[in-house]
Amino acid sequence: MTTQPLATEQPLLSVRNLKIRIQMDNGVMNAVDGVDFEIQKGKTLGLVGESGCGKSLTSRSLISLNPKECETSGSIHYRPSDSEGEKGIDILSLEPNGKAIRSIRGRRISMIFQEPMTAFSPMYTIGNQIMEAIRIHRTKDKKEAKQIALQMLSKVGISDEEKRFDQYPHEFSGGMRQRAMISMALSCNPELLIADEPTTALDVTIQAQVLELMRSLQQEFGMSILLVTHDLGIIAQMCDEVAVMYLGKIVEQAPVKELFRNPKHPYTKGLMRSMPRLGGGKEKRLESIEGSVPMAIDMPPMCSFYERCKDRIEGVCNASAVPITSISEDHTVRCFLYSEPEGGESP
Ligand SMILES: Nc1ncnc2c1ncn2[C@@H]1O[C@H](COP(=O)(O)OP(=O)(O)OP(=O)(O)O)[C@@H](O)[C@H]1O
Ligand code: SF4
Ligand SMILES: [Mg+2]
Repeated sequence: MTTQPLATEQPLLSVRNLKIRIQMDNGVMNAVDGVDFEIQKGKTLGLVGESGCGKSLTSRSLISLNPKECETSGSIHYRPSDSEGEKGIDILSLEPNGKAIRSIRGRRISMIFQEPMTAFSPMYTIGNQIMEAIRIHRTKDKKEAKQIALQMLSKVGISDEEKRFDQYPHEFSGGMRQRAMISMALSCNPELLIADEPTTALDVTIQAQVLELMRSLQQEFGMSILLVTHDLGIIAQMCDEVAVMYLGKIVEQAPVKELFRNPKHPYTKGLMRSMPRLGGGKEKRLESIEGSVPMAIDMPPMCSFYERCKDRIEGVCNASAVPITSISEDHTVRCFLYSEPEGGESP
């Protein structure tokens, strides 16, 4: 017997054909080039890839926060949990700084930025900034907002929160600023938390604490998470689904266990070989993927990983754009090793 998905199983967010183009001096950069993914309610999607592949631009576009030089197209369909049936909002059709997006940003969808200082103004105390976010989105009552802010600071492991409340961002260490930003992002019980490299700046112990905190708050509030990272270890610990990104495109997507058991794309396999393993043995050296991510300017229609790929097939992989192939119901890959080139035979 097949089970029909219930209407309540609609994804919280569906991204379709997202493209972000930036006009550069030497041509147009396709920084994000036709990205599709879904984020399910209460689940975590990991977005992984090397530096410069478009993770931050993709994630910031979910709350219309990309710089104005970015020309964005496609659709980002958000279905708030209190909307009925098929109804939802296309984020990209909203005025970038209008009332509608401002009522979503910070309240329903909030973001932990890669750079903690971007979230805080140096002019106001940390406590005031968290409290103001709560007063805009949750309660006008100043006392109640302060109480919630103090609770959130304590929840993220900031001790002596009454004293810390009145300190300025520069009086916090990097790790504490990161945690304060997490408490601000979570203080309005968002439906979706976008966490862009939330632990990169932290030492290992604090990193583990912050991840544990995000997980426990996810259970408590039932929120969805988009977790952006270049670290597959964090993906393995935290995510339900993974999208692997390379040069503006998603090259492989699968549930986390499936991706680790059965990686298909040469880039994903390379990332896995460069990942340290517990009990991996000292004699086994970690490999790195040779070469670096090129700039996505005026790329011809071909596989963008071609120059770095040990499995490349000349005349096939550099001759046309690579289609997406389904490996199974929920596992897709963008590689000619698993598909037929247009008008040709299977390699
Ligand atoms: N405002 C901008 N102007 C010009 N180029 C930009 C701008 N913002 C981003 N880019 C370029 O777009 C590409 C994708 O940037 P993005 O910040 O999304 O990468 P990322 O995957 O988040 O990298 P990292 O892991 O280093 O954070 C990069 O080549 C970057 O240099
Ligand atoms: S399409 Fe070809 S070049 Fe690209 S990843 Fe697959 S095998 Fe390598
Ligand atoms: Mg980034």
